[in-house]
Amino acid sequence: MTSVEVTPEIVRFYSETVDEADRLISTADGRLEMVRTQELLRRHLPSPPARVLDVGGGPGAHARWLVEDGYDVHVVDPITRHVEQAAATGATAELGDARRLTADDGAYDVVLVLGPMYHLRQRADRDRALAEARRVLRPGGFLAVAGINRYASLFEHAAYAHLHKESMRESIGTILATQIHDGKQAFTTAYFHTGEQLREEVAAAGFPDASVFGIEGPAWSLLAAAERNTGQSFRESSLFESVLSAARMAEPYPELLAASSHLLAVARRPV
Ligand SMILES: C[S@@+](CC[C@H](N)C(=O)[O-])C[C@H]1O[C@@H](n2cnc3c(N)ncnc32)[C@H](O)[C@@H]1O
Repeated sequence: MTSVEVTPEIVRFYSETVDEADRLISTADGRLEMVRTQELLRRHLPSPPARVLDVGGGPGAHARWLVEDGYDVHVVDPITRHVEQAAATGATAELGDARRLTADDGAYDVVLVLGPMYHLRQRADRDRALAEARRVLRPGGFLAVAGINRYASLFEHAAYAHLHKESMRESIGTILATQIHDGKQAFTTAYFHTGEQLREEVAAAGFPDASVFGIEGPAWSLLAAAERNTGQSFRESSLFESVLSAARMAEPYPELLAASSHLLAVARRPV
């Protein structure tokens, strides 16, 4: 596939505004997202070798460790720079769109959709992406789908000491009420899920056993704010360890899903 139909805003954001390759490495909350995503996935993945399709896999942050673990990984992403970066991880990679995968029916043991769901604002587009994930997954195969939490901006901007400003309260209030990030600052236009909505969307796509985990747990914004407010790295710190422990301790309590920055739905395609 040589061209895909994601919005110019998404192409501009990932090609020019940020280098997504740094996101899970350079900050403490990025490292927290990586460590937790890795441990949640490793708990559910089949033993290697297995065929993994990483849809919206970006520069291959997850592809890299999956290849090292012995999986056969293929990345699909609409951003040329990401496809080039992902191809350097030991995975194969192609330009593509979650809503129109080129893979054959049942070709993969595992499908990861860790990114497209928040970039697809319309429910119909998210349903198409999940239907495609189901189509290319073999019966009994494992699906993982990430979302951004509806409440993440509230926690983040409270911790950054932004909410004393009326303009910030208005902007965060709009995200809370509409679940739409307007894309004016810091990120693209995006859809933010509640845990139950993400579970329901995955279940409705033909994964009735879907369940949802909070990735970063209830204290990630403290970590982000500590770095932002001091200019120091907290990637290796007792605060990092404490926040990581909080994420693990929060796991059994569904009420605390609302406090994580990202959500991870996991499911098996019925046999
Ligand atoms: C925040 S990045 C996440 C990258 C990686 N999966 C991770 O978890 O670190 C979101 C990714 O979704 C990709 N994306 C956006 N819209 C997409 C679509 N319609 N189909 C496939 N990927 C898409 C972006 O190009 C980007 O690489």
